[in-house]
Amino acid sequence: MAGIDREWGFGLKGLPTATLEHWSAEAPASYRPTGQICPITYRYLDDPEIDTVLALQDRVLAGLPNPDVLRAVPADRHARILRTQGRTAGAFDGRRLIGYAAAQYPITLTEHQGRTINLSQAALDRSAQMEGLVVDPDYRGGRIGRRLNELRLVYALARGFRHAVATISPRNRYSLQAFVPTGLIVRGLSRGHGKALRYTLHDDLGSEVSFDAETTVEVPTADLDAQDALLAEGYSGIGPTLVSGALCMRYARVTWKSADRKPQ
Ligand SMILES: CC(C)(COP(=O)(O)OP(=O)(O)OC[C@H]1O[C@@H](n2cnc3c(N)ncnc32)[C@H](O)[C@@H]1OP(=O)(O)O)[C@@H](O)C(=O)NCCC(=O)NCCS
Repeated sequence: MAGIDREWGFGLKGLPTATLEHWSAEAPASYRPTGQICPITYRYLDDPEIDTVLALQDRVLAGLPNPDVLRAVPADRHARILRTQGRTAGAFDGRRLIGYAAAQYPITLTEHQGRTINLSQAALDRSAQMEGLVVDPDYRGGRIGRRLNELRLVYALARGFRHAVATISPRNRYSLQAFVPTGLIVRGLSRGHGKALRYTLHDDLGSEVSFDAETTVEVPTADLDAQDALLAEGYSGIGPTLVSGALCMRYARVTWKSADRKPQ
């Protein structure tokens, strides 16, 4: 068995929310057009920053070559998440917001994406739902997306939400690359969201995850039937790969081992 590590580089796991509220840190990222390294500051956002969040969402949506890969998070949901029902992590170049990642909790049963992968009621009750990850087009490829993912997951865990769920388009290569290393793995494939194709990703943040390397198989993300069959057999998607230029998902049989032995 091989372990699936959560790449959580800030080392915030286990800190209480009271500490996270006032936390901020700088980490370098390369500015893709020039390769120049710039210092990016990370912290959690506050209610009054709703307008900058919405402006960045609009800018990112306007620049998408394929709008099918991203659904806008409605303004009222962003506001709820910022205020009480979740947390939004932000990345700044100076005073300019250049990326954010939001997570919502608790989640109503009708909105819960974990239902599509048959999570237990106990897991549904303790789930945080990923609700929007965007990075300004000028700053992509510098692992800002990954770091923002880590920050929203660690905060949810600190608030007692042990499970994380997300949906991502199988065509969204960079989003998959930003999500999977933080521990979320593909557990389902559905035609939800107004028939748009989406993977459902899940992580039990309190468990150690490993996979059986001998079961590993790579499948083009466009091959829906093969992936449906693997998922039905209990395989999970553990990471995107490129095979002869085609975007593939690597599948394997995965084992979850509870690290703290809390009931799920
Ligand atoms: C998805 C998104 C948030 C990723 O942000 P990001 O800061 O570029 O993410 P990361 O740098 O952590 O990228 C993860 C990987 O993709 C690579 N990558 C990202 N953008 C890239 C680009 N334009 N060209 C080449 N590689 C790129 C990174 O190099 C990194 O690779 P690595 O795993 O080998 O290190 C960003 O592309 C985005 O805002 N997209 C539009 C909105 C969207 O699709 N959101 C997600 C909805 S689920």
